[in-house]
Amino acid sequence: MKAKLIDGKAIAAAVRADLAAEVETLKAGGTEPGLAVILVGEDPASQVYVRNKTRACAEVGIHAEEFRLPADTTEDELLALVAELNARTDIDGILCQLPLPKPLDDAAVIAAIDPAKDVDAFSAVNVGHIMIGDYTFLPCTPAGVMEMLHRSGVEVSGKRCVVIGRSNIVGKPMAMLLLHENGTVTVCHSRTENLAAVCREADILVAAVGRAKFVTADMVKEGAVVIDVGMNRDESGKLCGDVDFDAVAEIASQITPVPGGVGPMTIAMLLKNTVTAAKRRAK
Ligand code: GUN
Repeated sequence: MKAKLIDGKAIAAAVRADLAAEVETLKAGGTEPGLAVILVGEDPASQVYVRNKTRACAEVGIHAEEFRLPADTTEDELLALVAELNARTDIDGILCQLPLPKPLDDAAVIAAIDPAKDVDAFSAVNVGHIMIGDYTFLPCTPAGVMEMLHRSGVEVSGKRCVVIGRSNIVGKPMAMLLLHENGTVTVCHSRTENLAAVCREADILVAAVGRAKFVTADMVKEGAVVIDVGMNRDESGKLCGDVDFDAVAEIASQITPVPGGVGPMTIAMLLKNTVTAAKRRAK
């Protein structure tokens, strides 16, 4: 393998260590950061994400409270819980794990969370803040990617950045954060013509497609930095990203693995947002 590995697991551990020190200071001043995590239904992947999030909270000293609701929960019931959590002064952040089981509406729940407690930064208000480059809450996955680039010595300014995927959670805010650091950003998606050729122009390529091994070696420029946001299962059920790792690692200069890349960073940034919210309460 030619590329240097960007070790998200190690970088996330360093971020958590910094946060643990901040939490200690907050607690000494009488403020214990609190995060409410809502999980509706029994989606196995969501269960793993939620477990990892609450475990990470415990590690840095954040009080995490899990709310597990059955798959047949009504929208009224879910919104009532959100209203209760909005009103609680000991809860700084509210996270509802997405996607919600049908027929629940992700957007309705996102809109109900107090923007001051929206540690995912999914609400229209917080997305607006991200657009204008004035953010209290960083969008977790894109912020995690930026942190990895910074700590790996990757300069974004002036570089060609290509983001594959245009979701509200990853693709769109990712493009915005790269733009704020003066990258020249292209967002590709399922209708993009000549996708491979566009990707080959990238100095920094971010894959957020949701398809196993979608990014192949012929789509990557020699020496590019490749960030894999994907979390998929391959033919044999093994966890893998959106990038054909073994082949692309022979071409890229730096690359993130899956698992152990972006995933742990997303959680670290969620903790960071929760600490940010708690600091505001402490003021
Ligand atoms: N589902 C997939 N990613 C995320 C995330 O970052 N936050 C929440 N709440 N749900 C998700």
